[in-house]
Amino acid sequence: MVLSLQRLRIPPLFSTVAICAFATASTPAGLGSLSTAAEFFPGEIWRDTAGVAINAHGGGILLHDGTYYWFGEHKIGGGAGNRAQVGVHVYTSRDLYSWIDGGIALAVSDDPGSELVRGCILERPKVIFNPRTRKFVMWFHLEPPGKGYAGARSGVAVADAPTGPFKFLGSLRPNAGVWPANVPEEWRHPLDEVELAAVRQLELPGGPLPYYPKNKIFRRDFAGGQMARDMTLFVDDDGTAFQIYASEDNGAMHISQLSDDYLRPAGKYIRILPGRFNEAPAMMKWHGRYFLFTSDCTGWAPNAARLAAADSIWGPWEELGNPCSGTGAQIANTFESQSTFILPVAGRSDAFIFMADRWRPQNAIDGRYVWLPIVFRHDVPMIAWRDAWSLGEFDHPK
Ligand code: GAL
Repeated sequence: MVLSLQRLRIPPLFSTVAICAFATASTPAGLGSLSTAAEFFPGEIWRDTAGVAINAHGGGILLHDGTYYWFGEHKIGGGAGNRAQVGVHVYTSRDLYSWIDGGIALAVSDDPGSELVRGCILERPKVIFNPRTRKFVMWFHLEPPGKGYAGARSGVAVADAPTGPFKFLGSLRPNAGVWPANVPEEWRHPLDEVELAAVRQLELPGGPLPYYPKNKIFRRDFAGGQMARDMTLFVDDDGTAFQIYASEDNGAMHISQLSDDYLRPAGKYIRILPGRFNEAPAMMKWHGRYFLFTSDCTGWAPNAARLAAADSIWGPWEELGNPCSGTGAQIANTFESQSTFILPVAGRSDAFIFMADRWRPQNAIDGRYVWLPIVFRHDVPMIAWRDAWSLGEFDHPK
C-alpha cells in the first residue's frame, strides 16, 4: 500500500501518515527500515506523524541510541515568529522520514528578568551528548530582548534526557580574555583608546563592507568576550566538541573548542575567513578532512553558499567556492535556502544530508526545510537539487 501511494506521488501529508501507520502496525522501525517506502520532498510542507507541519527551523540533529532527535526553532505565524515565543522543538525518528513530535525541549520563560524571556531571539539550537557526564547539552544563538542582534551571545542548556526538559544555564560571549590561537603576536593586545574611537565611528551593521577592519574587532571584544551569532556544534571522532560561530560583527567565523563537559569554551579558538562575512555554519568530516558549509550574509534572503576545507580543524582553512550545482539561480541562492546542519546518516558510508532552511520571515512558521544528499565530486562535497529523493541514493554513489 505504501509503495503504491509513493508511486502515485501522493503529497507528503498523506504519504507520511501512511508510512507512520505502516511502521507502527507491522515492525518496530529500525534504522533505514523504511527507506524503500519513503522520500524526502525538499521545500514541501513536511508533516509529523500526527499530520502537523514540523516546526524545527534552523535546526540540527543528534543521533543517540539509534534514534534521531531533530531540534529546531519553534516558529509561530507572522513576523512575531522571528522571535522566540515558544522555545526549541524536538522531534524523534528512527528512519529520518517519519518524525514524532517530542514536544518543547527548551521552553522560553515568562520571567521578565530572564534572558530567555518570551520574545527574545533564540536561533540555530544544536544538541550534543556528553558521554562523560551523560548529559545532553544544547547551545544556541541568544539575543536578549530589546537590543536587536547586538547581544551576539551563546545560550547553554542541559538535560538528562534527549527530549528534555532542558534547563537554561545562562548565556555568554565566548572566549573573554583569550586570544585566538592563530593570530600573530603583534595583534595580541586590546585596542588602545585611539583605535577604539576609530572603530566606534565605523558603521558595522553586520554585513559585508569594504572598510571592515579585518584585525580589530576581536581585539575590541577581547575583554568582554567574542560576538557569537549564527552557530553550530561539531563533535570530532575523539569526542572533542567545537562551537563554530559567526563573530566580529559577522566579519569572521570562529572555531572554538568546548570544555570536556561541553558547557563552556575550553579556551582555545581560531578565527577564519576574516572579512568574508560567512553565516549559517554547518560542518562535516569526511576521510579525515573537515568541510565547513556557510552562507553569505544577507539576512533572511537566500544567497550563494560557500565551502571551505581543512586537514586540521585548527586550519589552515581554504575556501573551495560554491558547493551547489544546478541552474544559475539555484547556484546563486542555494536552492532558495540557507545551511543549518550536515547530518551523517547512520549505517551508511559517505552518506551526509545537507540541511537548510527556506525562511519565510513574513510568516515565520511557514519556513520550509531543504534536505539534499551530498554527492562527492573529485573528493569535494557538492549539492544538487532533487524534487524527491530517498536514502537509497547513498547506495549508488554517482
Ligand atoms: C540570517 C541568519 C538567521 C537569522 C537572520 C536574521 O542571516 O542566518 O539565523 O539570524 O539572518 O535576519
